[in-house]
Parts: sequence; C-alpha cells; structure tokens
Amino acid sequence: MSATAWFSSPADALERLGATGYLADEATATTAFLAGALEKPVLVEGPAGVGKTELAKAVARATDAELVRLQCYEGLDEARALYEWNYKKQLLRIQASQSLGQGAEGGASWEDAHDEIFSEEFLLSRPLLTAIRRDRPTVLLIDEVDKTDVEVEGLLLEVLSDFQVTIPELGTITAVRRPFVVLTSNAARELSEAVKRRCLYLHLDYPSAQREREIVSRHVPDLDEGVVGQLVDVVARLRELELKKAPSIAESVDWARTLIALQRDTLDAAAIDATLGVVLKHVSDQERARRALRDASPRNSSTTSAHPFR
Ligand SMILES: Nc1ncnc2c1ncn2[C@@H]1O[C@H](COP(=O)(O)OP(=O)(O)OP(=O)(O)O)[C@@H](O)[C@H]1O
Ligand SMILES: [Mg+2]
Repeated sequence: MSATAWFSSPADALERLGATGYLADEATATTAFLAGALEKPVLVEGPAGVGKTELAKAVARATDAELVRLQCYEGLDEARALYEWNYKKQLLRIQASQSLGQGAEGGASWEDAHDEIFSEEFLLSRPLLTAIRRDRPTVLLIDEVDKTDVEVEGLLLEVLSDFQVTIPELGTITAVRRPFVVLTSNAARELSEAVKRRCLYLHLDYPSAQREREIVSRHVPDLDEGVVGQLVDVVARLRELELKKAPSIAESVDWARTLIALQRDTLDAAAIDATLGVVLKHVSDQERARRALRDASPRNSSTTSAHPFR
C-alpha cells in the first residue's frame, strides 16, 4: 500500500486548506490531518450550510487530488453506487456471437460467452469502484449519506473498512492507493454503529464570529470590514431565535454579496428588512425576525443603531 502523505500536521492542514479558501477551525484541521495519516474515513455531521461538502472539495484542492463524488439519495442502489453491468452491450455481444456461430461448427459455448460478457469491458464503474481503482490521489466524497436507505450502508462497509469491492464475476478489487474518504450527514437519521466505528467523527457547527468574519471577507473581499462585522453579528442573533431554519455560512456569504449588489454600505434596520429573504426562507422565520428586530430597536433609535438586534 503506497501511503500518501495528505497533510504533514494539523497546522499544515490548516494552512493548506486556508490557502484554497477553506478556513477551518482547529478540530477540523486536526481531523483532516488524522484522516490522512490514519487512512480513515471522516464522517462530518452538522446543520446545513456549515461547510461539510466544501471540506471534501477543499481537501481535494489542497492536495491536488481528484474529487470523486457519490451523491446519496433515497433509492440509491448498488448499480448507481458501485458498478453495474452494461446489459445492452452484453446483449449485443451475445446476439453477435450467436449469428456468427450459426452454421459454424459448434460455435462459442455458453461458458465462454458468459466469461466474455462478464469481463472488464462490460463493466460500468460507479463512484465507489472508481475511487477504489484510481492510482492517482483521490478524495472520495460520499455526500448526504443519511439520505440513503440503511441497506446502502452495508455496501459502504466493505469499502470503508477494507478499501475493497467484491464483484462476484471478477473477484475482489483492492485499492492500490487508498482514497481520502469524507462522508457527510445532516443527521436526518442515525447512521449505523458499524459505519461510525470505521470513521473519525467531526461535528461541524456554526463558526465563531471571528471565523465567520474571515470566511465572509474571504468570499466577498469588497465588502467593508465594518459591515461584515455587523452582518456576522446580526446572523449570530438570528441563529439565537428559534427559527425553522437558521441562516448558514452560505447565507452569510450570500447576504454579503447582496449588500454589494445593492451598494448598501451599512446593514441597518431598513437594509435588513429589504434583504431578509436572502437569509431566511420561511415566512414564519421572517416574521419572527422582524418582530425581534422591532422589539430590539425602538423607532427613535433605529436609524442610528449599528446593532439592530440590541
Ligand atoms: N470553513 C469555510 N471556509 C470557507 N467557506 C466556507 C466554510 N464553510 C462553509 N463555507 C461556504 O459555505 C458554503 C456552503 O458550504 P457547504 O455546501 O459545504 O455546506 P454543507 O454543510 O455541505 O451544507 P448541506 O448540509 O446543505 O449540504 C460553501 O460553498 C462555502 O462557500
Ligand atoms: Mg453539503
């Protein structure tokens, strides 16, 4: 097994992920380092939009690896996740050999034909098999694994623990070079203990104000730092309200882009009111936020208040 040095230390992970635009915290950088060093998959869990999928992409960017992605969904099966036989091609081959065999003595035996059509040439590789077989550095992203049916986890186990795939007609294919595996989940359902046991676990949550400011500034460098501070502050306050869906990092970044597009140079009550749909996507959440906004900033001070929720 040729061990790839993914990251040389947690600090190296922090720096190289940062250089590609992914601002990780200590726990994330340490986990990324360990996943590479121990050759263990990472299970990343957390709310929507906190950078779970982006982490896998950033590892690929930072290490010059190719990203192979398996997007999970209800009904995902072996044929879409692992491999399937190209039935059409197999059928054509059988028909061709039958017509050739006609008249000729004997023709090809069924066994010969069977061996031929269940060979490499007729195999359609899907993401899990593709990642196992690549001999170049590969990040395998198994995205939103909680959306699949439990049976798919059974499929994943062989890949996650032994980095191999068994195809009855061809035998067992073992990774020449182990991929860096990232599984993400919104925790819509609990994953099996068997899967968890094989993974390192990382819980990603909303970032600290400081890190979120850095992330927003990195994505939207043109926005004034003071406004970025206001925005992150307001987002933090929105997250404290009991909302159906709290704003994520992705929405903070969108909000910053919105302010640039509208050429707003402050995030006052009026600007918040006009752009709330960028961060809150349920009417009830918007109503709740507007109520909190009104209660927190009395009419006479709203025009000057830099902190509308205070
Ligand atoms: N640490 C970070 N550094 C830089 N950008 C980040 C970071 N975390 C999140 N982002 C930004 O937020 C966006 C959303 O992140 P991502 O798509 O990874 O969320 P997710 O956790 O996978 O959400 P979902 O559960 O909805 O799939 C990214 O495209 C990226 O722009
Ligand atoms: Mg995602």
